[in-house]
Amino acid sequence: MPRPADATTLTARDERREATLRGPGHEPRDDPLTGRTTIGQWLASPVGGPLLRGLLEQGGIDESSLAPALELPLQNLVEASRGRFTQEVVDQLVRGANDGELVVEDDPALSAQRFTGRTVVVTGAASGIGRATARRVLAEGGRVIAVDIAEGALAALVGAHAEGAVVPVVADITAAEGIDAIIAAAGGAVHGLANVAGITDGHRPLHETDDEVWGRVMSVNVDGPFRLMRALVPGMIEAGGGAIVNVASEASLRGSAAGTAYTVSKHAVVGLTRSAAFLYAPHGIRVNAVAPGPVATGIEGRFASEFSEARIGPFLRMIPPVADAETLAASITWMLSDDARNINGVVLPSDGGWSVQ
Ligand SMILES: NC(=O)c1ccc[n+]([C@@H]2O[C@H](COP(=O)([O-])OP(=O)(O)OC[C@H]3O[C@@H](n4cnc5c(N)ncnc54)[C@H](O)[C@@H]3O)[C@@H](O)[C@H]2O)c1
Repeated sequence: MPRPADATTLTARDERREATLRGPGHEPRDDPLTGRTTIGQWLASPVGGPLLRGLLEQGGIDESSLAPALELPLQNLVEASRGRFTQEVVDQLVRGANDGELVVEDDPALSAQRFTGRTVVVTGAASGIGRATARRVLAEGGRVIAVDIAEGALAALVGAHAEGAVVPVVADITAAEGIDAIIAAAGGAVHGLANVAGITDGHRPLHETDDEVWGRVMSVNVDGPFRLMRALVPGMIEAGGGAIVNVASEASLRGSAAGTAYTVSKHAVVGLTRSAAFLYAPHGIRVNAVAPGPVATGIEGRFASEFSEARIGPFLRMIPPVADAETLAASITWMLSDDARNINGVVLPSDGGWSVQ
């Protein structure tokens, strides 16, 4: 296990590296290093830097691979590293940097209570953006119908919250019985829907996309959200209102962000959003979409095609840094809440500015 390092034991190489990292936003901090401290700040810290580097070296991980993630909380590595960096390791680092104490830092954004008395259906709730959205709604007093196919991870979300606040539904949004199970679990008025579940296409170009990949991507990314909206909208009309947020993508806005099937599916999400926003506005139902840029989650982001990697890869190397799932949850819950009561039919890029490149 790594031990706290004395600043005086830093090598010249460490000092040079840390000087490089002291760009804007990566200054060493005086307050305790926690899981919410950014990776850049950990690396720039005379105590945290050597601890984190020691761990990277042990795992054979090149520090430069963290460059796009410097602005993310350290905690984020647990999900983004796909199992290589466990919660235990993060806790060990925090303890190592704080004389054995596991210092926990609250998220200051979580003091509002915008969802008290409301029920929100969140799909993809077992991981990434969906899980962060579910947690944010819960933290703000809401009841969440948490939908996912990943049973184990869904159970972990439920276990972490008060009895009854989360209703888990292990369901496939592409199956009619999955939609029925969601409606049954909600058991009455649904005020909000966050259609978050989605899958990627390995960035395949159309000439390398077989019917199976095409069908699966369309089914999860388009048919699922469509069917769930179709099932929930009548109840919202009856109740006199509701809010729906569909998760689109930067691939909804351009052709250079992903493969053909994913790009088409996310353009379709925009059509679904705008059509519904127009049709149901007189009934008090707002329908918006968020278009995330790169987000550190469990989603598969690898290229399955050399053809696409050669063409799309260079563009992806110029985009803004990766955001964390909580940042996207902030955008999504804003649009779900009454704070966005005047917002309807919008496709909001939440992408650090990629959409203006
Ligand atoms: N991560 C990014 O960089 C990024 C960028 C742009 C858009 N998005 C979009 O954000 C959304 C969430 O992605 P994420 O990055 O959090 O991914 P993620 O893989 O971490 O989470 C997606 C969740 O959806 C669930 N899911 C998949 N198919 C399902 C189905 N048929 N029924 C029910 N649940 C299902 C998965 O089990 C998983 O828990 C997706 O729509 C994705 O296209 C992500």
